[in-house]
Amino acid sequence: MEFFIDTASITDIKKYKALGLVDGVTTNPALLAKEGKSPIEQISEITALVDGPVSVEVTYTEPDKMVAQAKKLCKLADNIVIKVPCSFAGLDTAIRLKAEGIKMNATLVFHPSQAVPFIKLGVEYASLFIGRVEDFGLSNVEAIYAMSASIEEMGSPTKLLSASIRNPDYLMEAIEGGSDAITVPPVCWEKVYSNPLFALGEKEFLDSWRGLDESMRVEYESID
Ligand code: E4P
Repeated sequence: MEFFIDTASITDIKKYKALGLVDGVTTNPALLAKEGKSPIEQISEITALVDGPVSVEVTYTEPDKMVAQAKKLCKLADNIVIKVPCSFAGLDTAIRLKAEGIKMNATLVFHPSQAVPFIKLGVEYASLFIGRVEDFGLSNVEAIYAMSASIEEMGSPTKLLSASIRNPDYLMEAIEGGSDAITVPPVCWEKVYSNPLFALGEKEFLDSWRGLDESMRVEYESID
């Protein structure tokens, strides 16, 4: 399973890469805008830092413009994967980009049916959004299983990429549901490692430890 980092921040990419959590990167226009720098420079920096796929999204909604933009963007680096929207216009675009051999990530999938034509086409990734559905009090967890099954049933090489992961529960559900890849934002990893029970447990163990005779503690802590 691939773990991508869902950010355009160079600082975060470096941090999570060192922790073994960057098999690739997903960006989107909002994430790039948040950095406030030239998106072209930002993308070039990211692709140089990371060996795996870096998803970069088109910013038009009209097929001719999306195709033209995608063809230029993918020249920035060999590991760029073009994000195309899962819409009629996106499908038209995807068919044309596929003919050019351009790698794609069909994005903004909220229901597995949206991804079906893209899976049939054999795009590299299809991004199912979880958190943005759950923000409305609905669950999109079943969709992970359904999409995973439909990819298998259709015999497609498309990888199910679970996206819009908000918290540790979504992360686990994405794994259990059969995702091939998961893109996790830094804030989710921060939540994973800010469990108050962990902090309490660690503190209790170390407080008890300090009750031991100092010479015994020193012997243990300076073992060679
Ligand atoms: C996926 O590639 C998207 O960039 C991302 O997961 C969207 O997440 P959000 O719903 O937190 O914006």
